[in-house]
Amino acid sequence: MKKRILSGMRPTGKLHLGHLVGAIDNWIKLQDEYDCYYMIADWHALMSEYASPENIKENIFECAVDWLSCGLDPERSSIFIQSDVSQHLDLYMALSCLTPLSWLERCPTYKEQLREVTTRDLTTYAFLGYPVLQAADILLYKANVVPVGVDQSSHLELTREIVRRFHHIYKKEIFPEPETLLTHAPKLLGLDSRKMSKSYDNFIALSETDEDIVSKVKQMITDPARIQKTDPGHPDICNVFSYYKVFASKEVHELEEKCKAGEIGCMQCKKHLAEIIIERLRPIRQKREKLIKDKKFVMDVLGKGKQKAQDTAKQTMKEVRELIGFLG
Ligand code: TRP
Ligand code: SF4
Repeated sequence: MKKRILSGMRPTGKLHLGHLVGAIDNWIKLQDEYDCYYMIADWHALMSEYASPENIKENIFECAVDWLSCGLDPERSSIFIQSDVSQHLDLYMALSCLTPLSWLERCPTYKEQLREVTTRDLTTYAFLGYPVLQAADILLYKANVVPVGVDQSSHLELTREIVRRFHHIYKKEIFPEPETLLTHAPKLLGLDSRKMSKSYDNFIALSETDEDIVSKVKQMITDPARIQKTDPGHPDICNVFSYYKVFASKEVHELEEKCKAGEIGCMQCKKHLAEIIIERLRPIRQKREKLIKDKKFVMDVLGKGKQKAQDTAKQTMKEVRELIGFLG
């Protein structure tokens, strides 16, 4: 029997290069070896977007299209929408009952978001419980492995603590303790060298046109010490160089030498990077353009994913209800 994977993403907008190299590329590889469930976490999106949810519907569709365009394979993976499987909320409630408030209050992501997010009011009851719903997402499918970025580690740690407490209280071990599988791809910074984020508008979307890719790459900040092409560069502090490491690993060494020796200008270096990114995104964009017009196919994929997810989820909830001692 293959081990099982669950991972998810909040549908908060267009997918970008950061999602591709930080998550989806990895998800695609894992499809060979694992039984994969990939979930569009719309309830989690609502936790921050509740006051203006008008884009969520479109974002869910776009997210599914992006995943499929990149190469997630609905024949091998279950691709589904969180809110299509109501058992997430059942298990979330069961876990909420036994999760100490202090575990949630001291969660680093919670504290950080409250401090940093100023455009939304996140001092809500649900937002505090964000990691409990995430634990329910994972446990509902008895996932063995959860591939995530390092920013999600504390949520996985909390999930394992919740599992142990559940087993201790109900005296039966029904869940595996899920393992965190960290994505090893080096983190891509945004075009302005800050964290790549929708709110900073500093990303290259998977759906970007060639012209926009060229102009966005042109804006990237390079080594400030280089005024003329012959000035020796410092690739290790250059964001363009870090993109080469991710997208053109074969060329990295040569570029490093040339940059240090002042043999290549930043304009030329960026022009070539734009070409590399355009080539990388071309097949994805072609598939995307087809899928965006084939709503039926995408909805069918989500429908099939929902069926399979529900089958597994129902089975788990049945066991949970029995353990708790609910009637039926
Ligand atoms: N919290 C995750 C994020 O923001 C998304 C998510 C929701 C998730 N449920 C999950 C990830 C379950 C892994 C497993 O990226
Ligand atoms: Fe960066 Fe390329 Fe310029 Fe070197 S040549 S500083 S790697 S943009």
